[in-house]
Amino acid sequence: MQQYRYFLKDTIRKHIDFAKTDQNRGIEPPPIEKPFADDALITELPEPHALKNIPGIRLSDAIKYRKSHRAYQNKPLTLDELSFLLWATQGIRHVIDRGHAYRTVPSAGCRHALETYLCVLNIDGLETGIYRYLPLKHRLLFEFTDDRLKEKIVEAAYNQPYPGKAAVTFVWTAIPYRMEWRYDLAAHKVIAIDAGHVCQNLYLACEAIDAGTCAIAAYDQEAMDRLLKIDGIDEFTIYLAPVGKVKTDLFNAEKNKNGS
Ligand SMILES: Cc1cc2nc3c(=O)[nH]c(=O)nc-3n(C[C@H](O)[C@H](O)[C@H](O)COP(=O)(O)O)c2cc1C
Repeated sequence: MQQYRYFLKDTIRKHIDFAKTDQNRGIEPPPIEKPFADDALITELPEPHALKNIPGIRLSDAIKYRKSHRAYQNKPLTLDELSFLLWATQGIRHVIDRGHAYRTVPSAGCRHALETYLCVLNIDGLETGIYRYLPLKHRLLFEFTDDRLKEKIVEAAYNQPYPGKAAVTFVWTAIPYRMEWRYDLAAHKVIAIDAGHVCQNLYLACEAIDAGTCAIAAYDQEAMDRLLKIDGIDEFTIYLAPVGKVKTDLFNAEKNKNGS
């Protein structure tokens, strides 16, 4: 138990020779975004800053009414809505250089060691399948489809049914080297902390589009990595969150206020 509690502490930093990290040895930083093939199938996403079709809501309301939703309406999300959720969770605010960019969420040392995969089941204009978010140009990469996608994601979530009912499931993977390059053995705790920021933004952003989500950390590691076709060593799943349309408590509160 002590060994695992140690992971939550920052004692490890005292035992690291930071002069020997890859960053301080002058090794080039790994790319901000996982590379992809020239002939990859890319979908442009609606401009995230315009957000024309996303209603404004009070941040205090989003925080007040946020909760985990595990049942969803059988309705699609629009591409505008998906674009908004991707921007809110991993969108890029400002590119500094080849190895660094600020995003809409914080990250230790601005290392952003996460990638976002989507299991798309019901998004207007998108074929069912596994996609990957390309934050640098705010685009989507179509990875592949699978006839048994719905069943496979449910199985890989230890038979929690929500990913099979959602319009889309966000699956965040870690590429640990992005963080290890700077922090060596102190990288891993902060990657996990970073994932929390991302998912919290998803919860709050969902409130603006009458959608709900539920963080999932209980999943079959090997099955989920197999589903995404990632190696499970240099990149592996760390967190997921199904999203679908719901009547949020914020929606119900507004309805009561308006007497409708
Ligand atoms: C790190 C983390 C992991 C979670 N994993 C699961 C999960 O695997 N399955 C699930 O149904 N809920 C999961 N949840 C959701 C929690 O059960 C939920 O946040 C908690 O019951 C409080 O409810 P609330 O989010 O509505 O406030 C997780 C939440 C967090 C933050």
